Amino acid sequence: MKKITTIAICIATFLGACKTESNSNKNVKDPVLEKRVTNLLSKMTLDEKIGQLNLRGTSSRVRGSLPETLKQAVRDGKVGAFLNVMNKDYVDELQKIATEESPNKIPLIFARDVIHGFKTIFPIPLGLAASWDTEVAKSSSRVAAVEASSFGVRWTFAPMLDISRDSRWGRVAESPGEDPYLASQLGKAYVEGFQGDSLNDPTSLIACAKHFIGYGAAIGGRDYNTAIINKELMHNVYLPPFKSAFDAGSQTVMTSFNETNGIPASGDKHLLRDILRDKFQFDGFVVSDWNSVTEMIPHGFAKDEKHAAEIGLNAGLNMEMTSKSYENHVKELLNEGKVTEDQINELVADILRVKFRMGLFENPGRAQNTTEVLYAKDHLELAKDAAIKSSVLLKNKNNVLPLNKKTKIAVIGPLANKPREQLGTWTFDGEKEHTVTPINAFQNEKVDFKFVETLSYSRDKSEVQFKKAIQAAKQSDVIVFVGGEEAILSGEAHSRANINLPGAQEKLIKELAKTNKPIVLVIMAGRPITITNIVDDIDAVLMTWHPGTMGGPAIYDMIFGEKEPGGRLPITWPKVAGQLPLFYNHKNTGRPASSIEFVHIDSIPMGAWQSSLGNTSHYLDAGFTPHFPFGYGLGYTKFQYTNLKLSSDKISKDQNIKVTVDVENIGEKSGEEVVQLYVQDVVGSITRPVKELKGFEKIALKSGEKKNSFF
Ligand code: NOJ
Repeated sequence: MKKITTIAICIATFLGACKTESNSNKNVKDPVLEKRVTNLLSKMTLDEKIGQLNLRGTSSRVRGSLPETLKQAVRDGKVGAFLNVMNKDYVDELQKIATEESPNKIPLIFARDVIHGFKTIFPIPLGLAASWDTEVAKSSSRVAAVEASSFGVRWTFAPMLDISRDSRWGRVAESPGEDPYLASQLGKAYVEGFQGDSLNDPTSLIACAKHFIGYGAAIGGRDYNTAIINKELMHNVYLPPFKSAFDAGSQTVMTSFNETNGIPASGDKHLLRDILRDKFQFDGFVVSDWNSVTEMIPHGFAKDEKHAAEIGLNAGLNMEMTSKSYENHVKELLNEGKVTEDQINELVADILRVKFRMGLFENPGRAQNTTEVLYAKDHLELAKDAAIKSSVLLKNKNNVLPLNKKTKIAVIGPLANKPREQLGTWTFDGEKEHTVTPINAFQNEKVDFKFVETLSYSRDKSEVQFKKAIQAAKQSDVIVFVGGEEAILSGEAHSRANINLPGAQEKLIKELAKTNKPIVLVIMAGRPITITNIVDDIDAVLMTWHPGTMGGPAIYDMIFGEKEPGGRLPITWPKVAGQLPLFYNHKNTGRPASSIEFVHIDSIPMGAWQSSLGNTSHYLDAGFTPHFPFGYGLGYTKFQYTNLKLSSDKISKDQNIKVTVDVENIGEKSGEEVVQLYVQDVVGSITRPVKELKGFEKIALKSGEKKNSFF
């Protein structure tokens, strides 16, 4: 195993995959900083130390004025950080108490799930991943940081770097997709964007790489479920994006809810000590997920709250989110010798180190730029640009898109004018009043259209309005159907067994197809949506994910050809949910699926004798290919690849190879292409995937223009 892993890493290195570039946030132990930490620790009481390990999470429910008990807890130094305090006056008041009245005047950190934007909402993370553009990822997180810090937020629970190979999982919407290389590049970019140039800049949010680890490998895509990950997959697929985020300087990491191979992450000493601290040299702090320490009880790993605290502390989990096992039991555990004061000191030191790095002791206040930064013009422009670069054109029969601006359009479907839904999951702070829907954009641009929503939400089964929709379709040249999933159908705890268009959407599309008018399907959804039942009824499919605040104008620009959809799939798009999990970087097997040998279920003769001959690793009914592969996406022009060259046809350990290829825009329009480099280690002492992404570059070419891409 070792040998092959080394070869894979070596190949990655020459492509820049594993480079750890110098970064101002990089975790390097600074003696002056360490001295400050030790000095402060030496002055703290045990109660204060326990307080630093406490992430208080119930304050978002506070109405009216802040409860005296909460203020007193801060005054006594019993809280290290807060989650979800979204009232700026409360932030100011609590921070003032902490820094002026608590025994050692240790500042608080205010945290929030700022996932794909704060007020200005960008496409969901799976959409941003589809941009294959690290600049898009970085600028989206920088905008989010600038906006959120004006509310006092200095810590975001992002980026989520869980590789997901199963689109039934609701949180696939938040994921970077299925590929470790793409996810690693994005992870680095997000961290750089959130944390900015300097951690002590008041607009810097410390990042939190989550969920450590294996959360995306939940069995059957059922959220919170068990993960079984062997050592090879752990090191080649699940850990690399986290390593990349740590190398980029992510100051925190969140343990996941799930157990992997029998050990819940919040109690996994090997993960949190051997891998995180020793191997990755991480010197920030670890936060649990919401109650994930005490959830080790139902997992069957801890017998009670005290035992859960003991396991979490010994594993090296620094800060407990919302549950209070540390607060309630550290003293007892110390008295019983189940943990030592040195251990507690070490856990607290990690938190103080980050607080010092953030400059909170010198400058604990909010970034003073509140109102001007929210929905700033450049933020909205970046959000629109991101929505365009994230959208994936999956089908475009007879080049029906882009439409001519004079085309008469029937706009139909449940998501054409749903500002809240197009924001997607994890958008507590985004406001529908500031969101521009496709209908708003069409109105603003004076498009000749008639809007018949027909289904009032994505799961609507009512056919009452079908007639009206068909009539509008008949009176138009083209049907633009905006459908998909409402925001609530993906995200945490929202897994689906079927991932097709819910409600009566498919039925409506089938009825509309009978008018023989071209149908452009615009999908807004948190995951790939199976369209096998309707794909022959529609002419174009534009996947916009949940595109965010500026989804409407972005869709207008793409539909009318002002801009080209720039996305490529960051995840394999299945034909049917029964194919899941499905991913491009699978192993070959001893009987690889092949179209030559494939026997479809309908071709098996009646009374056939039992035989495996002619059958390989496939489904009789769904075959073995996806509907659309990883990396796929159309544009409005065509590219031709020629002259692929390797600097050598052999590579040994520690050697580099240069790969070059000419890419030419042979279409009539300007366009962008994502040049993707895959490798295969053909024979090894352990087997390797059939294909592995090891480099990509997004290039813009005018018609007739040619560029030499190299890796
Ligand atoms: C639970 C989620 O799993 C996690 O991602 C999130 O950051 C926390 N809740 C806090 O809201």
